[in-house]
Amino acid sequence: MRRLSDFRSDTVTQPTAAMKAAMLAAELGDDVLDGDPTVRALEQRVAQLLGKQAALFVPSGTMANQVALGAWTRPGDEIVLERSAHMVQWEAGAAGFNHGVQTLTLDVPDGVLTPAMLERVLRPASLHCPKDVLVCVEQSFMGSGEGPGGLVLPLERLRELHAWCRERGLHVHMDGARLMNAVVASGVAAADYGACADSVSLCLSKGLGAPVGSLIAGPFEFVERGKLVRKRLGGWMRQCGILAAAGLHALEHHVARLEQDHALARRLAESLHGLPGLVCPPASVRTNIAMVQMRHPRHTPASLCAALKERGVLVLPMTASSLRFVTHMDVGDADVGRLASACRELLG
Ligand SMILES: Cc1ncc(COP(=O)(O)O)c(C=O)c1O
Repeated sequence: MRRLSDFRSDTVTQPTAAMKAAMLAAELGDDVLDGDPTVRALEQRVAQLLGKQAALFVPSGTMANQVALGAWTRPGDEIVLERSAHMVQWEAGAAGFNHGVQTLTLDVPDGVLTPAMLERVLRPASLHCPKDVLVCVEQSFMGSGEGPGGLVLPLERLRELHAWCRERGLHVHMDGARLMNAVVASGVAAADYGACADSVSLCLSKGLGAPVGSLIAGPFEFVERGKLVRKRLGGWMRQCGILAAAGLHALEHHVARLEQDHALARRLAESLHGLPGLVCPPASVRTNIAMVQMRHPRHTPASLCAALKERGVLVLPMTASSLRFVTHMDVGDADVGRLASACRELLG
């Protein structure tokens, strides 16, 4: 079978041989009945990494966010997020479906909600208004596709936001699906970002290369409430230490190498920027995501993706005028070369 160069997402990675060996060697238990020792070890490791009291292992990043919502909110409450946040755009309305909360969205192209923005939109305490209880941020910030993606939210701005929210009794949740990319790109410790939010999620199955799994971390009482939400969402798993072992392996061996994915994304931008109809300034690429703006007389993002697929290169159109490229463990310079020469041929 012809090997594909897959830039659609960092979720496509296959577990390495060493990761599979770690999974096979894992000590297992029934996590629902009396606990799985490898899951416990992963939860403790991630709580420590993020500077939180406890963490909970869940099957997906979506469930990690949903557990946080369930633990922080009550039906009828309102949560505030950026318009293109994963929790707004890509979770199929789960916030309303699962928890009966209302979303208040703001258009913030760099992803950093500020106190001044919140000041303008937060509701007064009134029997007529929903109660604002939670502000959500995404680190790294994927973006809407209309500008750069994979942005790193600056620590100082996050600190300021969290302090402001705390004074007003609002919690902050950080969707940290790609938090470790932000950590590696900025040199800021995960716990320092963690200190800017009351709860933080972390995905193991994106750039970290594990096959399944995410965690949601926060204070003890939050995690206890989260356990009940996870149970109600059907996310409590049995001998899932086999998955937790992959996560522990990923945290041990696949964090520092994220820098290679970031460098590859910059080289990808260098090779596409300035091709007919494509704009992707390499300096705008901070992590493993290169968002390419496109305006071409013969191709749209969708038609270019279809033509690239015939040439063995998989890419996702992001909007009607942009494409998203994501680098990860299973692509390298040869894949970028293949992509660039296919784009040169197709765009003329
Ligand atoms: C920022 C962000 N949060 C959450 C998720 C959800 O992760 P999952 O696909 O594991 O549910 C994703 C998925 O790509 C994501 O990009």
